[in-house]
Amino acid sequence: MKIYNQKTVISPDIQVLKSQQHTIGLVPTMGALHHGHLALVKKALHDNNYVVVSIFVNPTQFDNTNDLSKYPRTLNNDVELLKTLNENNRILVYAPSVDDIYEGDIISQDYKFGGIEFEMEGRFRKGHFDGVGTIVKRLFDILKPDKAYFGKKDFQQLQIVKALVRNYDMPVNIVGCEIHRESDGLAMSSRNARLTEEYRQAAPFIYKTLKTAKAKFGTESANKITEWVENQFAKHDLLKLEYFIIADIETLKPVKRKSNKKSYRAFIAVYADDIRLIDNIALN
Ligand code: PAF
Repeated sequence: MKIYNQKTVISPDIQVLKSQQHTIGLVPTMGALHHGHLALVKKALHDNNYVVVSIFVNPTQFDNTNDLSKYPRTLNNDVELLKTLNENNRILVYAPSVDDIYEGDIISQDYKFGGIEFEMEGRFRKGHFDGVGTIVKRLFDILKPDKAYFGKKDFQQLQIVKALVRNYDMPVNIVGCEIHRESDGLAMSSRNARLTEEYRQAAPFIYKTLKTAKAKFGTESANKITEWVENQFAKHDLLKLEYFIIADIETLKPVKRKSNKKSYRAFIAVYADDIRLIDNIALN
């Protein structure tokens, strides 16, 4: 499996593949790969001739330096996992340095995504989506994928990337993939690797609460459900709720009055010690 660290080396190789009419799928990651990532890679291998997996912990999307410095970095292990899927040598890994991406200027561009950038993660993680927009656009410019794969655990990010592609008229098809969960329901995330045993045991409470919120959605108002969720976490010894919001999936604005013509999801962000976990669930 070929591992590239420089855009000036991977870019021409991709041009050659494209000139041979091969399609390219991109799975952008920050590494510490888990089965959720591998499911994206499998889907990308199914849909495309070649798949690039980018592994890059993007500094501009972190609003918290502690979170950035503690983010797990496990490149050797990631490469070993990808090798298990690389039967016909169709996976390329792009693991650039910060300098290869930012060329000495580690700043993000300012983006407008029609307002969805100010909700939820945008409200609690200032500048986060400018950082995501900057890296995703750069990866698309360097790697020129036909399709790019994103998990729905970061549902707001998925909507942001779709808006980015629309705004810049980029010829990339964005594919959203279902959330992968551990057997106890905890959404797979690279950050789970940082949970102590005690917090790991507690964390499935997040999805359990989302499932109950979904069950209540048919008969109770969004406000009442939100209050119920806030009470559940107020009573919890270990997990601290940052937000729980029931939102329209298009605008990502909190729902005031339900309409059966719209689709809604419940979104949650929780601190397990200093580890921030997010999750969401479709409600209708
Ligand atoms: O979801 C992630 O892992 C990151 O936000 C992404 C899309 C790879 C951009 O750094």
